[in-house]
Amino acid sequence: MNEERLLNSQELPEDSSLEGGLRPKNLSGYIGQKAVVDNVKIYIEAAKKNGRPLDHLLLAGPPGLGKTTLSQIIANEMGVNMLTTSGPVIEKKGDLAGLLTALQDHDVLFIDEIHRLNPAVEESLYPAMEDFRFDIMLGEGQHAKSMPLPIAPFTLIGATTKTGQLSSPLRDRFQIVFRMDYYTVEELETIVKRSAKVLEIKMDDDGAHEIARRSRGTPRIANRILKRVRDFALVKGNGNIDLAIARYALNQMEIDEDGLDQMDRTILMTIIDSFRGGPVGIEAIAASVSEEKRTLEDVYEPYLIKSGFIARTPKGRIVTKKTLDKFGIKPDTVQGELF
Ligand code: ADE
Repeated sequence: MNEERLLNSQELPEDSSLEGGLRPKNLSGYIGQKAVVDNVKIYIEAAKKNGRPLDHLLLAGPPGLGKTTLSQIIANEMGVNMLTTSGPVIEKKGDLAGLLTALQDHDVLFIDEIHRLNPAVEESLYPAMEDFRFDIMLGEGQHAKSMPLPIAPFTLIGATTKTGQLSSPLRDRFQIVFRMDYYTVEELETIVKRSAKVLEIKMDDDGAHEIARRSRGTPRIANRILKRVRDFALVKGNGNIDLAIARYALNQMEIDEDGLDQMDRTILMTIIDSFRGGPVGIEAIAASVSEEKRTLEDVYEPYLIKSGFIARTPKGRIVTKKTLDKFGIKPDTVQGELF
């Protein structure tokens, strides 16, 4: 695996094999997101009592927090199948028609990155969501006719890292909207302990705590770090993960006390060194660190904001006092409203 991407919360190919066995199969095994889980239980029970599919549901939040896992659990709890796809993959209306007609009664259609659907596809999703109907267009121009094709009553679960980029007609068609939040250290500790058990890794409480503490509130990252620390434990230790080996491994991987990696630190230092602490636009930061704007926005920035290292102002991003303290930089070297 590419070491640089260890803290990237976007899903990588190796995660699916790793996460396959690690993902809980039902709600009782799902840790954290209590507000979401408590309500989901009610909605599932109500839908089952009424013999109808669960209402369409939107899951919003940063990558790696278990949106796909939760969706699969919901399908399991409803006793139905889940078809999985993602916004950019559905290129044409015909692709969507293929998916919708493959659904059976009450099945779940999971669309990841739903904010990236192309507009024509998105529009043909509306009648499917509202009336379980897909309108096939016959002919073109003046003589075009639409022919309704019934589809099985189903549940659409949309996942998005960017609620703001969702069009309002689409957002309004979801009857249930949940925001997933970063996990607490305690919750992540429980998750890595469970993963260690599944992967047959011996780990003590302090080792689990250290991994959890430096995993940016994100289960996908915690599970990835767990595997890497296990490798260090096998080669440099006796195979068991304790505090010393966890610390050693995390330091070797250049994941610091705050869970930040080299790229996070580069972003913060760029704002300080090249833009005097900000305010600076995301495009300018992206150009300076040679990273795509979307990756900065989706992957790096959310946690830097959440953990208080970057603040957003109407004029752009600024670093905070916490950032200056972290790097031992005097406030008079930067400009900006905070100082
Ligand atoms: N793996 C990923 N997310 C999880 C969660 N919320 N609970 C348990 N295991 C997980």
